[in-house]
Amino acid sequence: MKVKYIIGILVSLFVSCNISAQKEASLLVTPPMGFMTWNYFGLDINEEAVRSLADAMVEEGLRDLGYNYIFIDDGWQGGRDNKNNIIPDPQKFPSGMKALVDYVHSKGMKIGIYSDAAPLTCGGYTASLHFEEQDAKTFAKWGFDYLKYDYCGAPSDWQTAIARYTKMAKALKESGREIALGICEWGDREPWLWGKKVGGQLWRTTADVRDKWTCGKTINKPSDLHGYGAGILDILELNAKLDAYATIGGWNDPDMLVVGLYGKKGAPSTDLGGNGCTDEEYQSQMSLWCLMAAPLMITCDVRNMNEATRRILSNKELIAIDQDVLGKQAKRVLKTDTWQVFIKPLANGDIALGILNVSDKDQLAVFNLSELGILQKNKAQDLWTKEKFRLKGRIKTLIKSHETKVYRLSKD
Ligand code: GLA
Repeated sequence: MKVKYIIGILVSLFVSCNISAQKEASLLVTPPMGFMTWNYFGLDINEEAVRSLADAMVEEGLRDLGYNYIFIDDGWQGGRDNKNNIIPDPQKFPSGMKALVDYVHSKGMKIGIYSDAAPLTCGGYTASLHFEEQDAKTFAKWGFDYLKYDYCGAPSDWQTAIARYTKMAKALKESGREIALGICEWGDREPWLWGKKVGGQLWRTTADVRDKWTCGKTINKPSDLHGYGAGILDILELNAKLDAYATIGGWNDPDMLVVGLYGKKGAPSTDLGGNGCTDEEYQSQMSLWCLMAAPLMITCDVRNMNEATRRILSNKELIAIDQDVLGKQAKRVLKTDTWQVFIKPLANGDIALGILNVSDKDQLAVFNLSELGILQKNKAQDLWTKEKFRLKGRIKTLIKSHETKVYRLSKD
């Protein structure tokens, strides 16, 4: 009787551990995709904007392509009530957060919120330090699915950062709702080494992206970017080196897509020389972010996109590379003054090959596949032109200045 009882307890312990392991594994098994309010709206967000963005994501077919989150960034907060519960700004969100979350959920989408591991956020709004449990419960009660947790106003040492992110991750886990955690300390304390362990599903690897190609400086570490305005190429330089750390449920986050902003909207994306990019450069960002299994967070005004932007963001074959269930970030296998070449292994044995022309001129790319370490691949598809062709041991193609070509290579 006693033995049976003990076996019973062991079995149920095993089952419940297994269930919770499965539950944990179910959080962001592929990089999250959606719309993030920051680059276009800055702090000037409100419920009407969020609703119309959710509507546009559905109408434009972006939700069905996998962009199924609306991420509310900084600027939503209205302080705390007399019980210290965090509240939204009543002018910006007069219907309250629960109603807005319900609306976004009713569209078949998920929704994220933003806070900071200090008394105030980067924008100077109420944040969550010392209110972690209470705020996590509030976010859960409202129905949020994701928290971006920023680090402005917090001490610079590693220990404090790790402790503060651990605390919020635990609070979210105990909040009664599955809420994913995006760590945002800009790569300064190498969160790729500890982000997953403390309970995060992704971690920013760099300073904020601006709407530009490059700041023109040599970038070796995240702090080299502070104050210079990170362009697409600068962020690539830092994030490309971190391929070993990306894993299922633990993604490197090289920040939002600037695709389609065209330097038009004013701060924050136009700060620090963010004057806009060419369509080739935007196409490169999409290509490189997909190769790097990055979160895909659109920030241009999806209610008013031009054809080029729509085409870049809606590339199904490329999105499939980003979302591939093997969960590998591409390795950069070549870097010269003209070329950068990336290889991403895929779940079905195919590989994605990316070739970026970093030079200021259009260039003819000729690469022997075996020299790139690619063997036994006979067929290819160009994921931008959709053209399919047989490989004869090499890739030969004209690539425009700052353009990235992406191919899916298969055996037969
Ligand atoms: C920081 C983050 C940005 C954005 C702003 C909001 O700068 O890195 O992504 O969230 O704060 O104030």
